[in-house]
Amino acid sequence: MQPEEFRKYGHEVVDWIADYLAHSERYAVLPQVTPGALVDALPARAPEAGERMEAILADFREKILPATTHWNHPGFHAFFSTTATPPGILAEMLIAALNVNGMIWKSSPAATELEQVTLDWLRDWIGLPPQFGIIYDTASVSTMHAIAAAREAKDPEVRAKGGSGDLVLYTSEHAHSSVEKGAIAIGVGQQNVHKIPVDADFRMRTDALAAAVESDLARGLRPFCVVPTAGTTSTSSIDPVPAVCDIAERHGLWVHLDGAYGGTAAVVPEYRWVLDGADRTDSLVINPHKWLGTPIDLSVLYTRRPEILRRAFSLIPEYLRTAEDPRALNFMDYGVQLGRRFRSLKLWFVMRYYGHQGIAAYIREHIRLASDLASWIEADSRFELCAPVPLSLVCFRQKGSDAENQGLLQKINATGKAFLSHTVLNGRFVLRFAIGNFATGRADVERAWKIIQDSHFSLT
Ligand SMILES: Cc1ncc(COP(=O)(O)O)c(C=O)c1O
Repeated sequence: MQPEEFRKYGHEVVDWIADYLAHSERYAVLPQVTPGALVDALPARAPEAGERMEAILADFREKILPATTHWNHPGFHAFFSTTATPPGILAEMLIAALNVNGMIWKSSPAATELEQVTLDWLRDWIGLPPQFGIIYDTASVSTMHAIAAAREAKDPEVRAKGGSGDLVLYTSEHAHSSVEKGAIAIGVGQQNVHKIPVDADFRMRTDALAAAVESDLARGLRPFCVVPTAGTTSTSSIDPVPAVCDIAERHGLWVHLDGAYGGTAAVVPEYRWVLDGADRTDSLVINPHKWLGTPIDLSVLYTRRPEILRRAFSLIPEYLRTAEDPRALNFMDYGVQLGRRFRSLKLWFVMRYYGHQGIAAYIREHIRLASDLASWIEADSRFELCAPVPLSLVCFRQKGSDAENQGLLQKINATGKAFLSHTVLNGRFVLRFAIGNFATGRADVERAWKIIQDSHFSLT
């Protein structure tokens, strides 16, 4: 592609993105397509001869878009809402243009050093004491690395000899599945992931944690790690981290805090409490790609014990050996992956463009909107709240059967104007309404609430 052709289509694509971001509500947030429809609509084999950009862009508009779920839509309230902000999108373009591989300092000093700078800035925003930070793709991968470090701290021999048979990890029954997956990935058996029950507000019960650790010790098992959550996936409950740390300190457990979603709320000064106790944990994951305006993917792991993480993963092939310099960090030493994208550039763009106050204003508003929605639900006798609303997630159901609530969810999502997801709480089907997209304002939440009321579903 010649520079002039690139310029022409570059302008066209940027124009399209600008219109899309201005009016993403014109699309159905959840596409009404059947599984396999896109596969059937596209050729089974790639073209032998190159095609023209017009044809590629036309297919993007006519075939790809109709099968896309619009995460950047103001009516996206499923899972945890995310935002690809314009400055983040611009940075993604530059990241792709530079295409550096930040595996070692020398392979791109800028990628390595900007990662250090932005992660220090973010750490400061969320009120953590100085510590090492590293970017991975997702919270699942950040957590897997934390669990590997926890095992290294407990027993470095396992790395050489294998067999983590008697090592036990604790997390709540409401923890994200990535905790269990991370344990499985490093060879800790599923049977050694002990799920601690929660209290009436879905927070890890520390009396049950203490009892489980003591009983496992009595059985000759070796507790090594506990993973509390600040902002659980089902309800956004916040585990009592200081009390978890007390138990962990008594028994020499690594504490890894999953703040993938909720940790971001600590950017708002009056919500710093969400990370109470985080200064005592060994590691913490937070996902700027969830609630911090950064396009997916970008997850951050902080740890006070980087030397343990490095010990767990540093294995340097000869061709990558470089002169030691205390200021030349080689991020490849702190994880499984060798090649690394220049992800910090997008976080840097976003943090600079909005500033601390700008980001905090969005998060504060999302929390306020969630609290208002919760009050509207409580005021309508046909509906009920199903969990406390500490952050920007509202769990509710219509009074009635699970089948009726499933019908309600389908009816809402079929409008194309709002997309909600579900969970099961205390054995009952519950709808989840997450607020987290920077384009979502009061009018959008009011409109979605009206859709919910109008969709009230009856089997009779
Ligand atoms: C609390 C929590 N932890 C971890 C994850 C996994 O995040 P990721 O998709 O970045 O792996 C999620 C996903 O929503 C989550 O809600």
